Amino acid sequence: MKLCIIGTGYVGLVSGACFADLGNDVICVDKDISKINKLKNSIIPIYEPGLDELVKKNFNAGRLKFSNNLALSVEKSNIIFICVGTPTKKNKYEADLSQVYSAAKEIRNNIKSFKIIINKSTVPVMTGDKVEKIISKKVKKSLFEVVSNPEFLREGEAIRDFIYPDRVVIGTSNKKSNKILKNLYSPLISKGAKYINTSRRAAELIKYASNAFLATKITFINEIANLCEKLNINVEDVSIGIGTDKRIGGRFLRAGPAYGGSCFPKDTRAIVDTAKKSKTSLSVINAVINSNDKRSDLLLKRIGLILNNKIKNKKITFLGVTFKANTDDMRESASLKMIPYLNKKGAKIRYYDPSGKKIEFNRLNNVEFKNNIKNACEFSDLIIVHTEWNEFKLIDLKKIVKKKNFIVYDMRNIYSPKKMKKENIKYFGLGS
Ligand SMILES: NC(=O)c1ccc[n+]([C@@H]2O[C@H](COP(=O)([O-])OP(=O)(O)OC[C@H]3O[C@@H](n4cnc5c(N)ncnc54)[C@H](O)[C@@H]3O)[C@@H](O)[C@H]2O)c1
Repeated sequence: MKLCIIGTGYVGLVSGACFADLGNDVICVDKDISKINKLKNSIIPIYEPGLDELVKKNFNAGRLKFSNNLALSVEKSNIIFICVGTPTKKNKYEADLSQVYSAAKEIRNNIKSFKIIINKSTVPVMTGDKVEKIISKKVKKSLFEVVSNPEFLREGEAIRDFIYPDRVVIGTSNKKSNKILKNLYSPLISKGAKYINTSRRAAELIKYASNAFLATKITFINEIANLCEKLNINVEDVSIGIGTDKRIGGRFLRAGPAYGGSCFPKDTRAIVDTAKKSKTSLSVINAVINSNDKRSDLLLKRIGLILNNKIKNKKITFLGVTFKANTDDMRESASLKMIPYLNKKGAKIRYYDPSGKKIEFNRLNNVEFKNNIKNACEFSDLIIVHTEWNEFKLIDLKKIVKKKNFIVYDMRNIYSPKKMKKENIKYFGLGS
């Protein structure tokens, strides 16, 4: 099939590369010219395991193309995916849909034959209705169909999640579009993905409700971790104890810093906003948002206690600053609150992240990126494990840290407290 993907970010680029790998002709469009130029020169603008090879393979095979020309790309394709950003509006809970609507306006100027227009961006209920209205102002209804097809991939596991999803959700009541899309996704369905055809509005809500539920699960275990710290219980034992119950499940049940990333924070806020506009309350999700917003302060308070409230001039190392491992995405990462706070209190911060230096910290004095673990840790008073990258799991801290009484605060519980005790390292886990 001939596909056009509008928005070549985390979702658009992965979807485009995977669809091309399944044998489709794909044009990935972005208004960011530098991004498209990089891609045309086989430079992948994001960090996502396996994506480099997949993009190059399909680009070289001629199945995957990159363009800034939306008009021509839409014209050449039968199915158009909208994969643009839907961030939170400034100082509000509401989703900012300006990118979606402007993409819809650009699409409508270039429809000459039947097109299926798919919203893959995460959008509030009834955005599909609005996109349909925008397009129908210039295009006959018989020439297009607007469908919701939310994406559930996780950064860091995006290719695997795309190729082997638990389910494919298609929100449309149009039989022709449903048939075409079932065919498009048939290679994934034959590998075990459940195909769910539902109404467009239900599909839109399924995405938000899924993310809100996962954010709730994380926040739940984070609060149980707080309780564990008071009662001298290890939260890891509790996670295993409850997660082995199949009704609960162990995934998204690991305590850690506040959840961040490009999805959970904005999507929990947006669903609460949708509920408010529908004159109903989502008190559980509201509580989750409040709890998560306070979490960084709580962990910073603990850092203060660990350092006997003497933060000034302390050398603090952050191992990992992204919101989770295997991504370079810094959006709403907890480190964005913690590092500036500690910096303001006079700490000297070094950080290392396998995905590289972060512009977010450039303007801070005394916050320095080191390009390896050793240089980041060798003079540390306190090492904070912020992100659970695999390469942190087996390091021999005794060997690389020169300070005698250095402390480890493991916010991801990647180290064994017993082993740390045996090695005589002053160690604090999270939720223990
Ligand atoms: N990142 C994730 O893990 C993830 C997972 C599932 C769903 N989603 C959802 O998918 C959507 C996209 O997320 P993302 O993280 O890929 O965003 P992103 O910010 O990485 O990428 C969006 C891209 O769209 C481009 N763009 C915006 N308007 C455009 C236009 N009119 N024409 C062409 N290009 C345009 C931007 O330049 C940018 O490159 C969001 O709604 C998000 O909630 C994201």
